[in-house]
Amino acid sequence: MPAPNLPLLCPVCFQPLELAGPHPSGQSRLVCGSSHSFDAARQGYFNLLVGKGTAFEADTAEMVEARFNFLGQGHYLPLAQAVAAAVVPTLPGEHAVVLDSGTGTGHYLRVLLDAAVADGREVAALGLDISKFALRRAARLNAEAVNVAWDIWQPLPVKDNSVDAITVIFAPRNAAEFARVLRPTGRLTVVTPRPGHLASIADVTGMLSIEEGKESRLAGAMEAHFTVETARDVDFPLALTRREAADLAFMGPAGHHSGRTAIAARLEGQPEPVVSEARFRLTVFRPAKAPIQ
Ligand SMILES: C[S@@+](CC[C@H](N)C(=O)[O-])C[C@H]1O[C@@H](n2cnc3c(N)ncnc32)[C@H](O)[C@@H]1O
Ligand SMILES: [Zn+2]
Repeated sequence: MPAPNLPLLCPVCFQPLELAGPHPSGQSRLVCGSSHSFDAARQGYFNLLVGKGTAFEADTAEMVEARFNFLGQGHYLPLAQAVAAAVVPTLPGEHAVVLDSGTGTGHYLRVLLDAAVADGREVAALGLDISKFALRRAARLNAEAVNVAWDIWQPLPVKDNSVDAITVIFAPRNAAEFARVLRPTGRLTVVTPRPGHLASIADVTGMLSIEEGKESRLAGAMEAHFTVETARDVDFPLALTRREAADLAFMGPAGHHSGRTAIAARLEGQPEPVVSEARFRLTVFRPAKAPIQ
């Protein structure tokens, strides 16, 4: 059962949106004071997108499945644990609110929520994503969170100054909206790949490599609203089966322009294990409005 105290707003009238008891159908729903009502989908997520969304090339069901399978093998657990270790100690002990923006299949939020419980913290979590295929997985994995279909480039359906932690793992960043919804004491944790990330697999599969300089452009986009508090590299070796390497290549941007079969064919001659190195940057930002501590 999702935690009831999330600071959600109705996307139609911007009044608070509350979780209401189950529908006669057994599904829960979100309702505002003006009786706008959003039923949970059968798979457990809510769709708050009203009207026409922005044009967006969403991950396909197959790409989401590859992500789910790859992450389920635990290969990126060191990263998930690093995110949880960066976020959990910053949360208030009670009534903490966490927003995972671009939650995908919910893998990183799962590890974070487990770490918060193990640390005795009570957390209400919101997962946002534009992909319904991803949200189906996220709603199943993180049943205690509220998982919502939303476009990050639209004003978020979330109250001002109401969120303690936002996590953004390989997903787009709407700095102005993140700054609006974060409490002054809140933190924004962002994970991005660094140059050299998965380079050996990229060479074989035709994955896009990470551009030099991309990171400083991204940091520039955050500057108006956030200050970097800490930044650290999280690097670790990978030893994969060809199948896992194909999932890894296909779950990223390469999946939009190459089929999984074509990617798998390029890996066919590779000896197992396929070795590579994951190279990430984990950056914790505090809002520019935060009092310096
Ligand atoms: C590379 S995936 C990362 C997912 C997850 N954080 C993870 O690491 O497993 C990027 C995610 O961002 C979502 N996304 C991309 N553009 C979005 C948008 N405009 N609004 C909401 N979600 C978006 C995609 O659907 C996808 O699930
Ligand atoms: Zn309303």
